[in-house]
Amino acid sequence: MIHYKELGLVNSRELFKKAMQGKYAIPAFNFNNMEQLQAIITACVETKSPVILQVSKGARQYANQTMLQYMAKGAVELSKEMGCAVPIVLHLDHGDSFELAKSCIETGFSSVMIDGSHLPYEENILLTKKVVEYAHQFDVTVEAELGVLAGIEDEISSEHTHYTKPEEVEDFVKRTNVDSLAISIGTSHGAFKFKTKAGELPPPLRFDILEEVERRIPGFAIVLHGASSVPQNIVAEINKYGGKLENTCGVSEEQLRKAAKSAVCKVNIDSDGRLAMTAAIRKVFIEKPSEFDPRKYLGPARDALTELYKHKILNVLGSNNRA
Ligand code: G3H
Ligand code: 13P
Ligand code: ZN
Repeated sequence: MIHYKELGLVNSRELFKKAMQGKYAIPAFNFNNMEQLQAIITACVETKSPVILQVSKGARQYANQTMLQYMAKGAVELSKEMGCAVPIVLHLDHGDSFELAKSCIETGFSSVMIDGSHLPYEENILLTKKVVEYAHQFDVTVEAELGVLAGIEDEISSEHTHYTKPEEVEDFVKRTNVDSLAISIGTSHGAFKFKTKAGELPPPLRFDILEEVERRIPGFAIVLHGASSVPQNIVAEINKYGGKLENTCGVSEEQLRKAAKSAVCKVNIDSDGRLAMTAAIRKVFIEKPSEFDPRKYLGPARDALTELYKHKILNVLGSNNRA
């Protein structure tokens, strides 16, 4: 067992308290490899933002749990070396079992999500409570979910949105003692979020549900998943350089700005990073077909990611100068 404090990490409790008071949201960026991690840390150091490093079950399998432990420690050391020791959380994204959450806690995670949103309500409560009781012994914070987002995450997909029922949140939070709650108000996973026709605007987020949740559990940290905006200039760049992404659509950044000023303390962004990285790599492959040094295409991808993350922090979440 390695405790996250030995790696220099923090849990999310204090960060959420400050985000709630300061009316901003903490970025939760997913990563799978070194370049993504370097870009996240560079963007957070340059903007002085706290950060949640997210690892999905698939990402943990891809990167290897031992490797991840040292990468997280490396991220802490890198931020110090760059001159600003930003608070860093290592978080399990969409944990699907008690065993996975326990294993992450034992290998240095400071925060875990247990996603029982696909289960019947009482089963979601039982599973969440079990994880919370284990995690809190080690001062690890836990995120749960009520309501189901449309889209795909890991192997689980849902065709339709099932909005969070505000009448359930009070009971759920009280009975599970969970630290934060992901809710479903119309965001969705992936790069194809809404089936809108050309020229049509995507449906607005259900701020009425968010407000009712805030009224029922005042001061409680809310999480938004599926918050990528799928920038159309980046999608156009991918397609210009041989990609084929059609009918992509994301959540408007104006709506996310509004959400970040509410009880939403954590905003999850993965797909936008994937798109930025892909566009930069495709550009090099097309413009310089004789290039075969990975640094020559992963380097520009890392730069593009850093710019994207800085933009999210400065213009969408408002977490700059909060480290
Ligand atoms: O919500 C899911 C995240 O985007 C992680 O995706 O399971 O493909 O790593 P992944
Ligand atoms: P996006 O697919 O919108 O980036 O959502 C990521 C997410 O919710 C990770 O848990
Ligand atoms: Zn998610």
